[in-house]
Amino acid sequence: MTDTKSKVFSLVHQDRLPIPEIAEMLGLTEDQVLAMAKSEGVARSKSGTVPLTSLIPDRGHTVTGRQPRTCDEHGPYESQQWTLNNAPERMPVAMRSFWSQCPECNRIGEAEVARRTAEIRNRKANVDAMRKEALRASGIPERFLDCDVWHWQRGMDKQREVWETVKSYCIRIEDVIQHGRCLVLFGSSGTGKTHLACGIVRHVVEKGGTAKYLTIQDAIGLIRSTYNKGAEQTEDEMLAAICNVDMLVLDEIGRQSDSAHERESMFRILNRRYSDLRPTILVSNLERVGLFKFLGQALCDRLMEAGGRFLSFDWASQRSRRVSDSGGEE
Ligand SMILES: Nc1ncnc2c1ncn2[C@@H]1O[C@H](COP(=O)(O)OP(=O)(O)OP(=O)(O)O)[C@@H](O)[C@H]1O
Ligand SMILES: [Mg+2]
Ligand SMILES: [Zn+2]
Repeated sequence: MTDTKSKVFSLVHQDRLPIPEIAEMLGLTEDQVLAMAKSEGVARSKSGTVPLTSLIPDRGHTVTGRQPRTCDEHGPYESQQWTLNNAPERMPVAMRSFWSQCPECNRIGEAEVARRTAEIRNRKANVDAMRKEALRASGIPERFLDCDVWHWQRGMDKQREVWETVKSYCIRIEDVIQHGRCLVLFGSSGTGKTHLACGIVRHVVEKGGTAKYLTIQDAIGLIRSTYNKGAEQTEDEMLAAICNVDMLVLDEIGRQSDSAHERESMFRILNRRYSDLRPTILVSNLERVGLFKFLGQALCDRLMEAGGRFLSFDWASQRSRRVSDSGGEE
């Protein structure tokens, strides 16, 4: 923190570096930067200029000198020397006082900073809005919208093991997407599979990628809807729409009663993504043997290509834990 603070300190002293730009550089919020600047005795306006004119003596500065100066562009002006009254000890002496610049140049400079600040804030707002929209469009169910990978509880060894794999998967998400590395989350009910899968979707979106969460039943419904007369999309267009994302989660694999049809749809989606070298995450509460049988050898091989992993969620349901909040069994 002290290190960040000293970086803030030196950056806020750079004339006309907009606060949002400093915040961006250091990965802090604008308010954090302003607070640190203030605690160092540096007065900066919200927009980020060094407002020499606003450093009034009762804020801790004294006028210690006056000098006539001439600006090449704007002609003569009186420059004033401002000296900090209670400078922090480690502040270099050269920084404790300064001569004011041409007021007209200041005005122009501040206008430029205000313009840059507005530009940065606008860009940020646009990016935020796009992420929000992408998250909404990802299809994460309402109940799992706030789920993320990082807060997933991992008190048990088995949980920790699974989580470590998912964590590295997320940390290397660019690589995962580039190589189409898949994951299969399987195991008993209430063990947090959907929670983690939605967390990965969220992570991809936050990284600026596109991701979709669908139950296999939803996917089948979407494909079937194109069979209707007057359907707006062809079957192939719908399949493309489902598959055309950086990351796709298919949940509830193996739950459908019409398993032949489910398998066929799943194969078509997975094959398409496999040929496009795109990763898919399958989520199922079948146990290992049942799942392998359902998927078949050929598909299992494909899922494990490029370092894909099968992760077993083999512990008690966390749903009952939540309700009773005591760790008691169902
Ligand atoms: N490790 C965990 N940390 C935090 N919350 C958890 C964890 N495991 C489960 N939960 C919570 O418990 C509930 C059940 O989890 P989830 O729906 O993800 O289970 P699931 O494995 O998908 O079950 P099912 O196979 O029945 O679909 C959710 O509210 C989820 O947020
Ligand atoms: Mg689930
Ligand atoms: Zn000037």
